[in-house]
Amino acid sequence: MKNIQINENGKLKHLLTIEGLSKNIINEIFVRADSFLDSEKNNVKKVDLLTGKTICNLFFENSTRTRTTFEIAAKKLSADVINLNVNTSSQSKGESILDTINNLIAMHADMFVIRHGQSGAAHFIAENINPKIKIVNAGDGYHAHPTQGLLDAFTIRHYKKKFTNLKVAIVGDIKHSRVARSEINALNILGVPEIRVIAPKTLMPYGVEELGVIPYDNFDEGIKNVDVVMMLRLQQERMDNALIPSQEEYFKTFGLTAKRINYANPDCIIMHPGPMNRGVEIESKVADSHQAVILPQVSFGIAIRMAVMSLLLEE
Ligand code: CP
Repeated sequence: MKNIQINENGKLKHLLTIEGLSKNIINEIFVRADSFLDSEKNNVKKVDLLTGKTICNLFFENSTRTRTTFEIAAKKLSADVINLNVNTSSQSKGESILDTINNLIAMHADMFVIRHGQSGAAHFIAENINPKIKIVNAGDGYHAHPTQGLLDAFTIRHYKKKFTNLKVAIVGDIKHSRVARSEINALNILGVPEIRVIAPKTLMPYGVEELGVIPYDNFDEGIKNVDVVMMLRLQQERMDNALIPSQEEYFKTFGLTAKRINYANPDCIIMHPGPMNRGVEIESKVADSHQAVILPQVSFGIAIRMAVMSLLLEE
């Protein structure tokens, strides 16, 4: 895909994928997110950086965390927010996605946050609308979920301070996971020396090593001495046929249990982008343990999304 998300001055124009972002741009996002967290600590609930701007959330796939935290983030920046209900919109009458978006631009939308089941949807929209309008990809098919990759890396930075001495394991349905791709891209750019991906052979993409990771099909081997373990959900809705024998069997071999976490470093943090299926990829007591940072990930998502939207819309 052509990199259309960086302008001629090297600044972010859209956020479509982590691929092609520089370490400087990611650090700029992190530093700005830090400043929003500092403001929050000082009881500043809202800043007026985006007063007069209109941000439109267009979610063609379900979401709890991403849609809500984008809305909270936009409101904290003082933007006006429109949440288009795609099911009751004129999309159901056959209107094309570009016509829907152009109508919303005619209503003075400045930015679209888009989740779509089709890989490349956000990129296609960014290439085919008024170039002054900003697009943020909130997840497209198997391809990318860049703000999730950023908030996950930001969470790791919060707990581990630096990236250059870490072993990180990403576990589960790597094949269908846009989160895994964005996470791997972010951690490689930030200098993580060892990224492992752990999955049954049926859920491991062909040629995964080319992404700069070490594949494992044995969880107990792959989790040894890691500092971070990120569990992923089985994306049943993206599987063409049954790729695992049963959920019970999957949990036995690829579920994160209290016994299995003992193979990791004692201060290993446990992450999950959500939605989480307790008893399928993660044991309930592990998800609620002191090592789990799953809810802090969600909270950090607000600061990261504030940082991305404010950087994109600043004049
Ligand atoms: N992590 C994530 O994308 O969650 P939602 O599907 O709830 O937005």
